[in-house]
This record gives sequence, structure tokens and C-alpha cells, in this order.
Amino acid sequence: MVEENKRGSFGSNIGFLLSAIGSAVGLGNIWGFPYKMGKSGGFTFLLVYLALAVFVGFAIMLGELALGRKTGYGPVNAYKAITQKKGFRWIGWLAIVAPFLIMTFYSVLGGYCIYYIAINLIGLCTGTMPDSSSFGAMLTNPWLSIGIMVLFMVICFLINLGGVDGGIEKFNKIGMPALFVMLVIIIVRAWTLPHASEGLKFMFVPGYAVKGGFIEEAPGVMSVLATAGGQMFFSLSLAMGAMITYGSYLDKGENLPKNSVIIVIADTIVAIMAGLAVIPAAVANGIAKGIPVGDIKLGGPSLLFATLQDVFHDMGAIGGIFGTIFYILVLIAAISSAISLIEAVSVTFIDRASAKGHETNRAKVLAIVCLVITVLACLVAADGLGSNGIAPKDIFHIDSKADWCADWLDFMDTWSEGIAMPLGAMLMSIMIGWQIKPKALYDEIGSGYKGKALGFWSFCIKFICPIVMFFVLLVQVSSFFGLGWF
Ligand code: PFF
Repeated sequence: MVEENKRGSFGSNIGFLLSAIGSAVGLGNIWGFPYKMGKSGGFTFLLVYLALAVFVGFAIMLGELALGRKTGYGPVNAYKAITQKKGFRWIGWLAIVAPFLIMTFYSVLGGYCIYYIAINLIGLCTGTMPDSSSFGAMLTNPWLSIGIMVLFMVICFLINLGGVDGGIEKFNKIGMPALFVMLVIIIVRAWTLPHASEGLKFMFVPGYAVKGGFIEEAPGVMSVLATAGGQMFFSLSLAMGAMITYGSYLDKGENLPKNSVIIVIADTIVAIMAGLAVIPAAVANGIAKGIPVGDIKLGGPSLLFATLQDVFHDMGAIGGIFGTIFYILVLIAAISSAISLIEAVSVTFIDRASAKGHETNRAKVLAIVCLVITVLACLVAADGLGSNGIAPKDIFHIDSKADWCADWLDFMDTWSEGIAMPLGAMLMSIMIGWQIKPKALYDEIGSGYKGKALGFWSFCIKFICPIVMFFVLLVQVSSFFGLGWF
């Protein structure tokens, strides 16, 4: 089962596609996209998001897959192999730091999913459904949070240990279709709740978030653009080495432009579907209880683990079934993303060792990577979203509401999603567009493809991507550090 001293590969294109879609479809789709869409302009946001996905997301996705497949390496070695300039080589390391930091909180959230599956199952059996108070109780119990995080990491470790085709591909081949079916079940249930249409209006009607009282003030154009850009990057798993890594495992004969388009479309569809499931349910339940709409939590961990748990609680005994299905769905999404992050970090060390002619043991590398992530994740778990007095703002006595010091999850998120990701993507597009030049990857992109996407891709990677990413970086720095530039 354990592959020693050799890189793995996907067994089929559909296996690759489901794995790449699995990497993209994650917590970002379920709690990030619908909320940001509603808050930032509804349908207008969707159009901006789609435009960015076409001109930037697709271009970077294709660039990463091509980079990985051409060099046959994960991020660090791929950059080294493709660029002669020392100044660009270190970008690969950004694509290692970012997934590593993301995993320190993704694993904690994955652990929460496991716990919520358990309490919904218990509620189903005993007839006493837990409500949103279980969230606070879990957050303030550091040992519980650490225990479930460790369990999540062990599951991911075992899947990665199975290898690329035997573990990652196998999991996604079953997990992704299952996730889709479960999502449809939850959508049907959510839409049949009274007041569900208010949630749909929040998501789709331009400006309804303000008109309907969900938020006080409409965000500015700049902030909408940056929110859409940041969300798109995180959601498509870009600039984290994941797609470079998966590209390096893909057969030379497969069509990269077509695969990139499918991944972008599938991820966006699942994000919208997730919104159709969670937002109407959360809004309907809040209104039914007389909660002012502005006070209903529609984003972040509290949407998933507090607001929605109340929805399942209020359904009575049957809520246990929907609750269990829902949290299994979220757990699959979290695992399929986490295993790509772990793979992106681990493959670097496997590649480096084999490039130097050293013996590498995949199991050993995976174990060490997972262990280091787990140790750091203990801090995030014990912090309980700032509930337990060990958040950066408490330790360093900072009197600020800025995200980076609010709690350890936000701290890790700031440096990974906020800084490393847009910076890495901007530098990568500059490197491909201006240093090695898009033509260097034409062969790779063209293999198995005879269409006209190459010109479009070069234009995007040279001009549009660096400008948009620079802008996203500025706005993210401003918002994560509370600088108020925009
Ligand atoms: N795309 C994942 C999500 O939407 O939750 C997060 C993610 C996974 C980001 C893998 C980056 C990555 F490499």
C-alpha cells in the first residue's frame, strides 16, 4: 500500500477531476461563498465572481496544472525546474507555507464536523436534539476540540498514506458524488421551510442584504471586487501548491484546458448549491424565531455549527437525520480539501529527497508533516475561536478588532489566505507571464488540445492576473489588519 521512493499518479482522468474538484470544494464553498455573495451584492457579486473566475481563476488554474505536469514536481521543485532566476525560485515556498498554515485551522474545523455528526446521531437515537448551545460548549472545552482535531488528522493521514490513486483518488471518487446527492437532499428540505424565500432573496437579489435589513451598509465597489477575488482564490485552491501537485500526477495525454474549465464550473456550481441549502434554512429558522435578520449569523463557523444546528434542533427528531447528513457532507468537503493541502506540503519533501538521490519514504514524510500540523493546530483548537483567553490579542495585549489578532484561526487565515495566497498568485503570474513567458508552457497546455485557448490564456496570465492579484493583496492586507484603506 505504501509507495516508497516513487511519485504516484492518478489512475484516470475522472479520478483526477474528482480529486481536483474535491480540493476546490470545501468549507470555503459552504460557509464563505453564499454569505459573501449575499452581503456583497447578490447576483451582481455572482457576475463579478464569474468574470474573475474566467479571466483569473481559469488562467491560474491552467498555469498551475501545466507547471506541475511539465516539471513532474510539486510546487517548490516545479518553480526551481522552470525558472533560471533565483529571485523567483522562493515563490514555491510560499505555496508550502500557505497550505501548511491553512491546515492548522482546517483540521480544527474538520474535527468540529466529526463532533457534530456524533451529536446529531446521538440526538437522533435519544430523541433530544442538540441546539446552538453545543457550539459554545465545544469551543470552551479545549481537550475535546484537540481530540476531534487529532481524529480528523488521523483520517486524512490514512487517506494520503494510501497513495495518490489508492487513497486520494479512491476517496474522492466515492466522496464527491455522495456529497452532491446529500447536498440535493438538504436543498429540498431547506426550500420547504416557511420564509425560505427571504434567504434566496438575500443571496440573489442585488442589494437585498441592505434592503432586507441583513446588513446596514452596502460595501463599496473595491471591496466587492476584492471579496470576490479572495473568495475565488481560496475556493479554487489556487496559489497553494495543490493544483501544481495534482497536475504533476496527471497523465501527459489529458486535456488541461478542458479539465481546468470543468473544475472551475463544478466548484462554482457546488458553491451556489451550498448557498441554496444553507442560507434559506438559516434565514427561515431565524425569522420563525423572531430573531432580527441582521442578527442571524450567515457566515463563518457560527453559521455551520450554531445557526444550522438550531435549524436541525427545531425540526424535532427528524432533524437528527438531516443534521447527520449535513455534517457528513461538510466533513467530506473538508477531508477532500485537507488531503490536497497535506499532499502539497508533503510532496515537496518527497521530491527534494529524490532529486538529491536520497531514499524517501512517503509514509515517514506524511507522518512528520501531519504531526507538525497537528502540534500547531492544538493551539487553534485550544483557543476555541478566542473563547479561552489565549488568542493573540490576549497574549500580546492588543486592543484591536483586526482579524489577525482576534483568535488563532483568524491569525493563521490572515497569513495564509490573506497574504501568502494573493502574493504567491501575483508572483506566479508575473513569473509565467514575464520571466519564463507563456510560450514555455504552450507545449504542455497544447498536448491533447487543439483549440484557441492559448492566446487567451497568455493575455490573462500576463496582464489581467498580476493586476487583479495586486489589488486583491492590497485589499486583503487592509481588511485583515483593519487598516481601512478601502
Ligand atoms: N478550496 C478549499 C475551500 O474552498 O474550502 C480550501 C483550499 C483547499 C484552499 C486546498 C487551498 C487548497 F490548496
